[in-house]
This record gives sequence, structure tokens and C-alpha cells, in this order.
Amino acid sequence: MTIFDDADLKDSYLLPQEIDYLKQWSRFRKNSLYLRGCYGSGKTWTVHAIMREIRKHIGPPYFYHFFFESPEIESRLREALLNGGENHLIEKWSEAPLLIIDDLGREKASERVQQQYYRIVNNRYKHNLPTIVTSNYKPSELGLDGATISRIQSWRDISFPSMDRRVRKTGFQNKDLKAIGGV
Ligand SMILES: Nc1ncnc2c1ncn2[C@@H]1O[C@H](COP(=O)(O)OP(=O)(O)OP(=O)(O)O)[C@@H](O)[C@H]1O
Ligand SMILES: [Mg+2]
Repeated sequence: MTIFDDADLKDSYLLPQEIDYLKQWSRFRKNSLYLRGCYGSGKTWTVHAIMREIRKHIGPPYFYHFFFESPEIESRLREALLNGGENHLIEKWSEAPLLIIDDLGREKASERVQQQYYRIVNNRYKHNLPTIVTSNYKPSELGLDGATISRIQSWRDISFPSMDRRVRKTGFQNKDLKAIGGV
């Protein structure tokens, strides 16, 4: 169970035309998506809603994809470099029908990790395979190689309104304290 289990595009806070776009995208998955916005604006929630939509079209048993938070992908790549599995991992992630990287740019990528991201993004670009990235940053601010950034800039950009839904949803404010006699 996670807090994203109920995520459904019909409840999205995005503009109606963007919701329609994501619904269509989930059907055909012809290009890659860059979901950009501030902390708590709903990017990860939206990725889960997209996955739910994809499952509606593809049905059971399982849609083959990888979904990583960026620190995990990066630590796996570092580990693979040490134990000789780097090429295998890069190939696996380059060829998956869908690759999702949540929170790209969270950590500063080393030169090596930048090269690894380039290989993955470039392979997927060449084979026209869809990737979804979420980030708090513009592609140019990700700290990646220029060639990787250029490819990412060709993706469909979905910008989230600057509003931290986490605060709105769970924030306990002074007025709430007043209501229960706390202040
Ligand atoms: N359309 C929505 N309906 C209901 N809850 C939502 C919706 N969008 C976001 N939320 C809730 O808002 C909170 C923040 O959303 P989310 O974690 O997706 O933000 P984020 O943009 O990924 O933030 P970060 O950059 O910090 O990872 C979560 O608790 C999520 O469940
Ligand atoms: Mg997130």
C-alpha cells in the first residue's frame, strides 16, 4: 500500500487539455514525457495515475517497465560498475518498453553517471522508446551532459503549477490548532 494507490488522472489538478494529452499518451506512448514542478506539486502522483491508465489499456497480467527514484538508479549503476554488470544494466534499461525516473537531478551526477544516463537516454531515443522523467529542475539544470539535455529537451514538457499539495493536504496550520483549542 502506498499513498499513490488511488491516483487516477480523472482527479488530476493539471489543465483539462494536459489530462487529455496524458490519457492519449497512455494509450499509444509514442514519445517521452518530462514532468516538471516544485516539491509536492503532484509529479509522482501523476506518474502513478499514468501507470493506472496504461494498465487499463494493456490489461493484466503485467506491463513490463522500470520505475526508479533517481538515487536508486544511480546507486545501482555505481554498484554495477564495480561488479562488471554495467553494460547489462544499461542494455536492460535501454530496451524496456517504458522507463520511469522519478526525481532526476536530486543528486549531482558524477562524470561516470552522466555518461551512463547519456547511453540510456540515447539508446531509448534511437529506438523511439518512451521514458518518463520527473524533476524539480529544468532539463538544462539537471547537471547532465549537453547531448543528454538536448534529447530530453525534445520531450513533451508537462509543467505543474507551483503549489505544494503536501502542505495543503497534510499541513496542520495555526487555524486548525485554534479550532481544537490548541492556541
Ligand atoms: N490530483 C491529486 N489528487 C489528490 N492528491 C494529490 C494529487 N496530486 C498530488 N496529490 C498529493 O499531493 C502530495 C504531493 O504529491 P507528489 O508526491 O506527487 O509531489 P511531487 O511533485 O512528486 O513532489 P517531490 O518533487 O517532492 O517529489 C501527495 O500526498 C499526493 O498524494
Ligand atoms: Mg515526487
